[in-house]
Amino acid sequence: MHILIVDDEELQRCLLEGFLQKQGFQVTSAANGAEALEEFLHSQVDLVLLDHRMPDMNGDELLARIKAKNPLVRAIMITAFATVDTAVKVMQLGADDFLEKPVDLTQLLNKIQEIQEQLFISNDVAVIADAIHTDQLPVRMIAESRAMKNVLSMVLRAAPTPWTVLLHGETGTGKELVARLLHQLSSQKDGPFIELNCAAIPDNLFESELFGHERGAFTGADARRKGVFEQAHTGTLFLDEVGELPHPMQAKLLRALQDKTITRVGGETPLPVDARIVAATNRNLKEMVSHGSFREDLYFRLNVIEIEIPPLRERKKDIQELVPFFLNKLNSTITFDDQALSQLTKYDYPGNIRELEHIIQRTITLTRAQVISLRDLPDAIRRNSEHENSGKLNQRLAQIERQMILDALDKHEWVQTKAAESLGISERVLRYKMEKSAIGKKSGKG
Ligand SMILES: Nc1ncnc2c1ncn2[C@@H]1O[C@H](COP(=O)(O)OP(=O)(O)OP(=O)(O)O)[C@@H](O)[C@H]1O
Ligand SMILES: [Mg+2]
Repeated sequence: MHILIVDDEELQRCLLEGFLQKQGFQVTSAANGAEALEEFLHSQVDLVLLDHRMPDMNGDELLARIKAKNPLVRAIMITAFATVDTAVKVMQLGADDFLEKPVDLTQLLNKIQEIQEQLFISNDVAVIADAIHTDQLPVRMIAESRAMKNVLSMVLRAAPTPWTVLLHGETGTGKELVARLLHQLSSQKDGPFIELNCAAIPDNLFESELFGHERGAFTGADARRKGVFEQAHTGTLFLDEVGELPHPMQAKLLRALQDKTITRVGGETPLPVDARIVAATNRNLKEMVSHGSFREDLYFRLNVIEIEIPPLRERKKDIQELVPFFLNKLNSTITFDDQALSQLTKYDYPGNIRELEHIIQRTITLTRAQVISLRDLPDAIRRNSEHENSGKLNQRLAQIERQMILDALDKHEWVQTKAAESLGISERVLRYKMEKSAIGKKSGKG
């Protein structure tokens, strides 16, 4: 982001310029309106910080002239004393915000960040998406579909920023892969990439996993241990399945993110930590917030940039590229004929890309053919087309219901409470339906 500072007071200019440069912005400054306009003509300025009162041309006039040249430029007006009058006038002239003198630097930074976030979101996603060459990415991934190109475009723009990214998508859509890509494309790529799966940590060990512990902090803590925040220092901390974070830990995580410091369990001194946070979930956090199971303030903290990774059934164009990609990954010379390939695109993939990868793996392991045709495909895929246009409504609905139940059970390791919750039905109704569709407690697994 390129910022232009316009102020006739040299001291003020130097102060602001120095401060903003230290924050990593590209900054130029001008001592008066004429200089500012000159600068504006020669470089691509994103934001102007301008003093309301200057000798040659007042801030209002300068802003109007700048806006005439580039209506998209953002502006923050700095006024000597803010009266409601000036504030309204300044906004009418097209300033995005105003600040009072003496400038409070934290406030200034906050306002700039706000503008930066708006700019980021309003930038044309499609333009960048078209320019992406996936073979130049540091992480190998397929993105043929428009939906995935848009995801990549968000990733490319989010990566260099320090903001927290929240990845949302069904199981197997590539959340972890995207998290790794964000890390590789960021300025902290030489630092560590540390992953914590929030669904896999027992409640009583959470705090120590996140923040570490001192020796003797609790029974069994025989040595000092670093938590993931410390391990990820100068790198990226990937909080996977963040929706599973127990409520008390949500408050502690929020505090760590706000203060950028942590305290080890049993420790006294807060330690500064500097890690870029990427979080992922397959849950609807917004809904969880409205039910009170996820803290709203933490949600907003994590959700500075949200990237939605679409399910494979909504980007079937990718399948044609994913098949050779996985065959290549498996070092296989086997190919799929057109009919088989086309059949693969008809299936809905509740397990998304991971499921497709498994299907390909299984198919080529089980076959003796060099070219896979329809009959070599697993039943689930072949059956898909037989049912596609046949059967009575009731039969088909029952089939779909049965499949959804099986998928939910499978996904939640056959924990019925969780499966029922994900299906939006009660456990009692789930049990009834399982009985009706002849799903045993463990049938269908494996
Ligand atoms: N666009 C892609 N191109 C190639 N491979 C991909 C792509 N997306 C995902 N994969 C592969 O699919 C598998 C699943 O991806 P990943 O583990 O990132 O999904 P996930 O969303 O984290 O799943 P879960 O919610 O189950 O943790 C991995 O082997 C990954 O490498
Ligand atoms: Mg994952």
